[in-house]
Amino acid sequence: MLVTGGAGFIGSHACVELLDHGYELIVVDDYSNSSPQVFARVERIAGRFLGTVYELDIRDRRALSAVFDRHSVDAVVHFAAHKAVGTSTRMPIDYYDTNVGGTTALLNTMHEHDVHQLVFSSSCSVYGDAGHGALDESTPARPTNPYAASKLICEQILADVCRRRPEYTVLCLRYFNPAGAHASGLLGEDPSGSPENLLPNLAQVAIGRQERLRVFGDDYPTADGTAIRDYLHVMDTVEAHRVALDHLADEPGMHVYNLGIGKGSSVLDVVTAFSEACGRPVPYEMVRRRPGDVAELVADASAVARAWGWHPSRDLADMCRDAWRFQQLNPNGYAGSARRPSDEG
Ligand code: NAD
Ligand code: WQD
Repeated sequence: MLVTGGAGFIGSHACVELLDHGYELIVVDDYSNSSPQVFARVERIAGRFLGTVYELDIRDRRALSAVFDRHSVDAVVHFAAHKAVGTSTRMPIDYYDTNVGGTTALLNTMHEHDVHQLVFSSSCSVYGDAGHGALDESTPARPTNPYAASKLICEQILADVCRRRPEYTVLCLRYFNPAGAHASGLLGEDPSGSPENLLPNLAQVAIGRQERLRVFGDDYPTADGTAIRDYLHVMDTVEAHRVALDHLADEPGMHVYNLGIGKGSSVLDVVTAFSEACGRPVPYEMVRRRPGDVAELVADASAVARAWGWHPSRDLADMCRDAWRFQQLNPNGYAGSARRPSDEG
């Protein structure tokens, strides 16, 4: 199993989940938003060797092809991408190049090596400002920023590949808002630079690295005026990938599934849950809306339940508890942990 972006937030948790279920892994990452230090922790949790890791940019087809030459790859879980919405509006070319160009480079390499099974990380952001209520997969996609558009373009490319070539199976998982950390406190969200997402920012305020949380907008048409999202525990997110892999063989063609818990939480709900998790109120201030944000994004997550009989099992309190444990145990993220001697460059 090849995992692209395996050093990242979701990818590293996925490595643990897949190792726990007996998969043999090959991991590639360019560490543009991560660090190889995470792998020692993955191995510590899993209690086994991760597999061979390559530092490479997936757009480098020669390097990627060499990985496929050296290993027998049966399927790919493709996490590698740039994911910051705000940055994507400032650096659209970079985002399309990495996310779309990276995916076509991967597809070309898979094609050359007769690998036809892929699980693709898509995003609820493809729905854009779709409005009120739970969104199912038939909701028209209307991306509002280059990041979201890049994910939708990848989906369209993958659908075209599957239409042309019946030997392919592609599962596109549209994650809503993955959050939380591994229950051990060893793995969590450790982005390079300042975090954009709500949970890591809350954790930094709670630990004292930031003075107060800035709540982006209290004038949305929601019960408390703050925006509503569907937060999904990162361990549920990666469990869904493992279950997806179990179903790759019985579902030829392209399939798109939402991954969420199907329940919305406002920003203030999350502040309250996090305050409970850390045992004190997390200070916050209301500021203006963040450009590009939408009022509400909640999944209708019933398709994945129907297809695979799988449901997420963790709630917002679990996400906050685990994110807080990770923050407390790793006030400076992974900085300072040991790098595996076996990492290949
Ligand atoms: P992340 O940034 O933590 O992980 C992405 C990993 O890919 C990083 O380790 C990064 O270094 C690597 N990478 C980026 N460009 C690369 C390249 N050209 N070659 C090789 N490696 C490269 O992000 P994440 O939160 O773990 O997200 C994983 C995937 O899930 C992404 O595709 C993202 O778009 C998608 N997604 C994330 C969320 C979320 O809220 N975290 C929601 C929906 C979808
Ligand atoms: C959640 C809510 C913010 C930080 C993004 C991408 C989406 C997907 C998930 C990749 C929003 C508010 C946040 C803060 C705040 N990623 N907030 N103060 O924007 O829903 O989704 O990540 O695919 O595509 O768009 O996630 O965690 O940034 O924000 O008030 O310091 O928290 O305005 O309402 P978002 P988020």
